[in-house]
Amino acid sequence: MSNPIAEAKRRRSFAIISHPDAGKTTLTEKFLLYGGALAKEAGTVKARQGRKSVTSDWMDLEQQRGISITSAALQFEYRDCVVNLLDTPGHRDFSEDTYRVLAAADAAVMVLDAAKGIEAQTLKLFEVCREREIPFMTFINKFDRPGKSALDLLDEIEETLIVEPTPVTWPVGIPGDFRGVIHRDTGDYTRFERTARGSTIAPEQVVSPEQAEVDEQPLLAEAKEEVALLDELGRAVDTETFLAGESTPVFFGSALTNFGVRFLLDGVVDLVPAPTPRLLADGERRALDAPFSGLVFKIQAGMDKKHRDRIAFVRVCSGRFERGIVAIAERTGRQFSTKYAQTLFGQDRDTVEEAFPGDILGLVNANDLRAGDAVYVDEPAKFPTLPAFAPEHFMRARVKDTSKFKQFRKGIDQLDEEGAIQVLRDADLGDQAPILAAVGPMQFEVASHRLENDFGAPMELTSTSYTIARSTDKESETKLNSMQGVAVLARKDGSLLALFESSYWMDRVLADHPDLTLKRMVAEGGLS
Ligand code: G4P
Repeated sequence: MSNPIAEAKRRRSFAIISHPDAGKTTLTEKFLLYGGALAKEAGTVKARQGRKSVTSDWMDLEQQRGISITSAALQFEYRDCVVNLLDTPGHRDFSEDTYRVLAAADAAVMVLDAAKGIEAQTLKLFEVCREREIPFMTFINKFDRPGKSALDLLDEIEETLIVEPTPVTWPVGIPGDFRGVIHRDTGDYTRFERTARGSTIAPEQVVSPEQAEVDEQPLLAEAKEEVALLDELGRAVDTETFLAGESTPVFFGSALTNFGVRFLLDGVVDLVPAPTPRLLADGERRALDAPFSGLVFKIQAGMDKKHRDRIAFVRVCSGRFERGIVAIAERTGRQFSTKYAQTLFGQDRDTVEEAFPGDILGLVNANDLRAGDAVYVDEPAKFPTLPAFAPEHFMRARVKDTSKFKQFRKGIDQLDEEGAIQVLRDADLGDQAPILAAVGPMQFEVASHRLENDFGAPMELTSTSYTIARSTDKESETKLNSMQGVAVLARKDGSLLALFESSYWMDRVLADHPDLTLKRMVAEGGLS
């Protein structure tokens, strides 16, 4: 029987973080191409007009929009490793799931568009990485077209994120006139070849130093000077600072044309840490070879309309998972069967027979599970609570047809439990008209769709004037509630959120009443 410690050692589990359009979907496709998971041609991950989808067409909503809301974990082998790519949703909108996926990852790859540098959503996701101490590598994409210079991009990373960039490869030429990269470890020069939209693995041409001198001057000399400067500054990959989130290995390339993808994938295998014993709520760590345990990091419902199923995505944290074992959900103490465990490769679901630390399972119809739950066999495990992320959109919800109120309440409760949306209640309107709070506005569309289709209780959403939330406590509640432009609402677990109409107003309230408790929440955007 395979040993969990040995299997964990060859797992690399990571997520890609980026602002929409930076190239995450394209890069995912290319990883799969290089990982051999797409046997023929890449170009199939996302359902864009005219493109076929291998990831997700689960919900009608997605199909209407031609985008992918749901996310899947993709697994492939590369070199002697098993790579788990936790694919966060590839749409313009954010949801809490986008953040939660990072709870299941051991590292992240931050994709930047060379023309745009660090954008708003990259920054928010980076903040979650920092909060959760997840190391990250950086892929500077779209070097095949005009953009910022490599040195300017490094400065931007350093100044905005306060992280030291340590290039693994260095570009010869500038964005738009990209000739190739020098690999800093070997000194090899690899020439950039445009393949036809990169649908096959890029032919890599390692050019001899003599030939490079002939072909690529004066750009090669400039690049070498820059590399010498980096050497002088001590900007080399350093595992210790990388793992501590203080430095980020940087790769340059063009996902569309496949260039630089192999170097990045090699970087994933060489640098992403293998799973380590997972931190438990009591401060202890769960040994990798302890009995099976896993963390539920996301619930996905309504993926398959015919079956109305609900999938709990679980990251294996310890032991060997074997399909069919009876596991226990820590929060409820209830047992459940794992007969229907699956791995997901887009729409193709494969039954999974066994899994090891770092792998992602989809447990079908494990209806009691919520994001943040621990599941285990034999020895109980409980993981630290997943943080609640700062909502930025607030809508009041009411049932359209009052005779459906019961269904409405049940549906709202379930969406809350799944973590699909945050539900806040005030003393006056309570369950009649809760405030739904979201990280991204599309969560409202998903919630409406679910209430109508799964619970038969269409709802009406009205906008509110709130734009920002802070967590607060009982002591501050009365005082805050007596103020204009502020409301204190409760989550189901009793925790309190203060909602403000503007950050300007919130700052004024805080300046006038410094004794109030108003805590920032994770991923509020901006760094302070
Ligand atoms: P996302 O998942 O991060 O949102 O980005 P996605 O991969 O969908 O890429 C966004 C757009 O950028 C796509 O163009 C894609 O082809 C393009 N792109 C990705 N990587 C590169 C690159 O290395 N170089 C260049 N030049 N373009 C790149 P689109 O026009 O929106 O879609 P499509 O018509 O190509 O499908």
